[in-house]
Amino acid sequence: MRAVARAHPNIALIKYWGKAPAPGNVPAVPSLSITLDTLTTTTTVSESGADVFRLDGRQSDDPRVAACLDNLRRRYDIPPLSVQSDNDFPTAAGLASSASGFAALVTAVDAAFGLRMTPAERSELARQASASAARSVFGGFVTLEAPAWTAEPLLDEAEWPLRVIIAVTDTASKAVPSSDGMRRSAATSPFYPAWVDSAGDDFRSASSAVLARDFAMLADLAEHSCLKMHGLMLSSRPGLLYWNAATLACLHRIRALRADGEAVFFTVDAGPQVKAVCLPESEGAVVDALSGVSGVRQLLVSGLGPGAWVDGS
Ligand code: PMV
Repeated sequence: MRAVARAHPNIALIKYWGKAPAPGNVPAVPSLSITLDTLTTTTTVSESGADVFRLDGRQSDDPRVAACLDNLRRRYDIPPLSVQSDNDFPTAAGLASSASGFAALVTAVDAAFGLRMTPAERSELARQASASAARSVFGGFVTLEAPAWTAEPLLDEAEWPLRVIIAVTDTASKAVPSSDGMRRSAATSPFYPAWVDSAGDDFRSASSAVLARDFAMLADLAEHSCLKMHGLMLSSRPGLLYWNAATLACLHRIRALRADGEAVFFTVDAGPQVKAVCLPESEGAVVDALSGVSGVRQLLVSGLGPGAWVDGS
């Protein structure tokens, strides 16, 4: 009655921001992501006298963990649990720690109690806690769309081995958690209806670009989706401003690299880190350029990796 599961974060290329008015934490827009192969969440679950959750060695009372366990217990007979989750990277700083965290948690509970869930069911349960977590159940290029709202693999990581360089510009926890930010954008941004209306086209075009391995087309769509989401955030009231000066400097640097012929584009989530996605042959130039940007504290280099897995499997 004990299991260890691991999962990597994923980075959305077509962004999710906003929830549908439906139960179960259903997104208002489809999304497309890549699962990484470096940053890792390791989650151990075991039977215990009462539910206890420890994150990075400290007791935590994140209500999303209790809600996730409640959802599991609506379907399965699960005793009180000790859950220990450790990230080998900064938590809640726009590096998608909730995505890898909930994918690993559901996968660990499934393994510990021999529940034999399908990957789609694990993805559904992870989504109820954090919609981006639905995507970390799978590896490579992953989609999350209506009507099922369980993630699905689109293209295996080995089929198009892109590289991701993450420029860490700040490691503090984010100011406004994504769920609060999404509620604020839906309630106050005049751009919200246009965001929801245009997301389907971006998603379908980007899915085609991935299947065609069309880097230029994917670069155009991913930067558009990222900047449109940040436009939505900025136009919320009060405005959600997740960037710092180094974030913006990295975006200009990446645009300049692309103008010089490097195959690279950027994306940024609800935090100040910049993710540069490139073809393998451009990795060296991207690392060199971003390491010279003032305010960049650390570069993390990743390939594309697998979905959540159980230790020893
Ligand atoms: O699923 P959440 O609550 O972690 O929200 C994720 C939101 C973004 O990272 C900004 C976009 C995305 O699709 O991952």
